Amino acid sequence: MKPINVGLLGLGTVGGGTLTVLRRNAEEITRRAGREIRVLRAAVRNLDKAKALAGDLPLTTRPFDVVDDPDIDIVVELIGGLEPARELVMRAIANGKHVVTANKHLVAKHGNEIFAAAQARGVMVAFEAAVAGGIPIIKALREGLTANRIEWLAGIINGTSNFILTEMRDKGAAFADVLKQAQDLGYAEADPTFDIEGIDAAHKLTILSAIAFGIPMQFDRAYTEGISKLTREDVQYAEELGYRIKLLGIARRAENGIELRVHPTLIPERRLIANVDGAMNAVLVLGDAVGPTLYYGAGAGAEPTASAVVADLVDVTRLHTADPHHRVPHLAFQPDQLADTPILPMDEVRTAYYLRLSAFDRPGVLADITRILADSNISIDAMVQKEPAEGEEQVNIILLTHVTVEKNVNAAIAKIEALDTVAGKVMRIRLEELAAK
Ligand code: NDP
Ligand code: HSE
Repeated sequence: MKPINVGLLGLGTVGGGTLTVLRRNAEEITRRAGREIRVLRAAVRNLDKAKALAGDLPLTTRPFDVVDDPDIDIVVELIGGLEPARELVMRAIANGKHVVTANKHLVAKHGNEIFAAAQARGVMVAFEAAVAGGIPIIKALREGLTANRIEWLAGIINGTSNFILTEMRDKGAAFADVLKQAQDLGYAEADPTFDIEGIDAAHKLTILSAIAFGIPMQFDRAYTEGISKLTREDVQYAEELGYRIKLLGIARRAENGIELRVHPTLIPERRLIANVDGAMNAVLVLGDAVGPTLYYGAGAGAEPTASAVVADLVDVTRLHTADPHHRVPHLAFQPDQLADTPILPMDEVRTAYYLRLSAFDRPGVLADITRILADSNISIDAMVQKEPAEGEEQVNIILLTHVTVEKNVNAAIAKIEALDTVAGKVMRIRLEELAAK
């Protein structure tokens, strides 16, 4: 059979990794795909930078020439960002080409428009590499778990922030130094605030939630909080209480809608996912039939991500000639079967909490705090008072609550911060047991 022709947009970390893996494993990949997957040309901005890696592969600085090339069957978009990536992908689709992309920002923001266009044109848009690097989580959710009603999923889905948290905890390294390391290793986004502030994780969570629950992409409704305000003190207190702090993306089916949130989270250290370190990612999924399943692997980097890109290329190659109606739908559910289940506002989310506050060591302080919590319908699971440092008048008080509604906690925090005996702000970190029931 004649080869299938690929045009690469981008030869950076992921594009370079993709070319390397396609070349190194060419024989095995052809045996699996049923025909050769041949890269015809690649687009970059800086030709000199890409020359050594490209070898005899023709390069261009005009990506639209690639998507308009009549000889190309599949366009692989690995340049990142919204524009010109969106325009290139839409033009490739309009030209009748299949698309493979690792661009979670693009899929989370414009996925609805892109999938509708692809559906109408009868082409595939594959995006396995957009979530959790090399872990085949899209395939697992879309196909392997298709019998299940998904109750919730929770994932460490940003390698950079997990790498930073791990290095800070294990080596006491400074935030800025570890971020620089993550950038040098090719893990970080072009704008690393996307990694640190939870935005990249929210892009990925948006994609996972759409596939898990059969809803449209709704990135703008996701709650996003990053790791930049975490202190080493909180990481240490959490550990003393038997928890690890991870940046978690959580999508949960609740009574009145879907929770969609990314934030630092205390997880019991006995859970496997609490022990996922460095740039590794993991996604825990609870299905009603299968129970909990956990997917673990490298969440970023050249070849792990290339592994997912090439898997998509093989999938598209195999299904290239199939009747479009017999392909797996982009979002797992048939396009006319997507539900309009609302995303819950953060105020309505139910979870447990770690609260740390600094109080003057005077009689009645604890009574005031516990009264406020009780009045807000919040029950306390554990409370620890730290000895004051020498010469200090203030003590750190750490409280763990049972599950409650976020708006109650917000109200209680405001009242606690208004007490004369409490200094500064209350530190609040959400806590999830991640139990199967
Ligand atoms: P890089 O910055 O390493 O590479 C981007 C590539 O795209 C470079 O070759 C760059 O060329 C080229 N490029 C950028 N803009 C244009 C343009 N307008 N025209 C032509 N070429 C262009 O990014 P990554 O490889 O890290 O990321 C690519 C995508 O993969 C992003 O969407 C990212 O979010 C995603 N991703 C990244 C992962 C990772 O671990 N890095 C993991 C999973 C997904 P030049 O170098 O000449 O400027
Ligand atoms: N910047 C991303 C991360 C790359 O650190 O997880 C993988 O999507």
